[in-house]
Amino acid sequence: MELRIDRQAMVPVVQQVVDGLTDWIVQSGVPPATRLPSVRQIARGNLLSQSCVVEACERLVSQGVLTTRQGSGFIVAAPPTLRDADPELAGFEGRHAWCSEISAASGRLKLGQGSLPSSWREPDDLSYALREVARTDMDSLFNYSSPLGLPALREQIVRRLKVLNIAACSSRLMSTSGASHALDLIVRTLFKAGDCVVVETPGHAPLFDLLRMHGIRMLEVRRTSNGPDVEMLESVLRQFRPGALFIGSHHHNPTGSCLTPAVAQRIVQLSKRYDLQVIEDDVYADLHTGNGTRLAALDHEGRVIYVGSFSKTLSSSLRVGFVLADSHLLTRLAEVKMISGMGCSRLAEAVLARLMATGAYRKLVQRQRQRLNADRAAALQALEDAEWEVFGKPVGGLFIWARARLKDQALVRSQAQHCGLELSAADAFSPSGEAGDWHRINVACACDPRARQFLRNTCADRPPAF
Ligand SMILES: Cc1ncc(COP(=O)(O)O)c(C=O)c1O
Repeated sequence: MELRIDRQAMVPVVQQVVDGLTDWIVQSGVPPATRLPSVRQIARGNLLSQSCVVEACERLVSQGVLTTRQGSGFIVAAPPTLRDADPELAGFEGRHAWCSEISAASGRLKLGQGSLPSSWREPDDLSYALREVARTDMDSLFNYSSPLGLPALREQIVRRLKVLNIAACSSRLMSTSGASHALDLIVRTLFKAGDCVVVETPGHAPLFDLLRMHGIRMLEVRRTSNGPDVEMLESVLRQFRPGALFIGSHHHNPTGSCLTPAVAQRIVQLSKRYDLQVIEDDVYADLHTGNGTRLAALDHEGRVIYVGSFSKTLSSSLRVGFVLADSHLLTRLAEVKMISGMGCSRLAEAVLARLMATGAYRKLVQRQRQRLNADRAAALQALEDAEWEVFGKPVGGLFIWARARLKDQALVRSQAQHCGLELSAADAFSPSGEAGDWHRINVACACDPRARQFLRNTCADRPPAF
């Protein structure tokens, strides 16, 4: 068994062994109960230490991909059974955009999923930091956090923001339970039913659900490959005088597009002219190769509220995000945060602060960026080979927004089903629920053989001229 280990890669060798073994099982269709070659054989055949192979196999045991039997080594486990939908989700099914993100694993590859697949997650540093905090920091294990969040974490985040040219200070920054919590606090604090705000289309669907829940009217502005369509934005601002604009700055969900400096400058000018509050959602910032222009970096009048998160890189389960705003607004947000939830998890904040302080977080995101860059290039090539149309060519982040040449969407979806894939709902990214033929493709899933097969199959009915 050849695992093709790359010793120059930033991805740790153990993780490469985990990925290689998983690929081998999936691609070769290895049936359950098959015995893996011995640890010694795998190690010798790939010039690895036996302890490295054992560690990788143990991780696969904990993921349920392998099992162990006394004296028999490692054995391929039964594939995950198709679980029934989570009964707790039954009442929500289909009604909310977030259902497909958190619903029970169907055994299918979620080509449009919004996060890194679990095989990409790296548990070692995170579990070590959890153990260290539990062992050495009793306050974080048992006590509430402060209203703005743990100072040590806020200082680390401020340092990271400086790299993005965002001049922050920790008194203007508040921790939240993920970016969703930040958006919720902002919406509850600033708007009331009947207010009007601008959102991008396509865009982050749970934001639309949140605004709808509060009775806030959404005015749609088209997202282009350079950011929102600024001509359309100006005309909407002139006509309706909305109070705020929600915008995804870099590696926008779902299009993967980034704000260009010119568009960013123009939005800041418009925000002054039309007295607009801008909520800049930059949760994919750390998956960006290079810096890019942020609205928060250009704003000197406190018009931009900047939202970030660690869900897309470190863990969606830790639930740590943050909001940067002017001090007056931040005090109001902190009040709502404390009244509604007594703050965020101090344990989660301490663990993240530790990972940032030791440099482990910085190295993690470097590895993720490198791996995503390689997979993105391969995915773009596969899409091109299958003659899919790509919206802009993303240079970072998780997503590619693309559509098949095949116009029959029922056929595209039945091909997905046939290849063991799940696609995002056709209307998932539209504020008004309009169905479209564009698909969000998660770069980290696009190299899976099932995705490759799907792309090849959707290339099938070319018009006769081709
Ligand atoms: C643009 C955008 N904003 C916010 C979120 C929510 O992130 P979190 O897990 O930090 O709440 C997501 C997650 O998919 C997202 O894509």
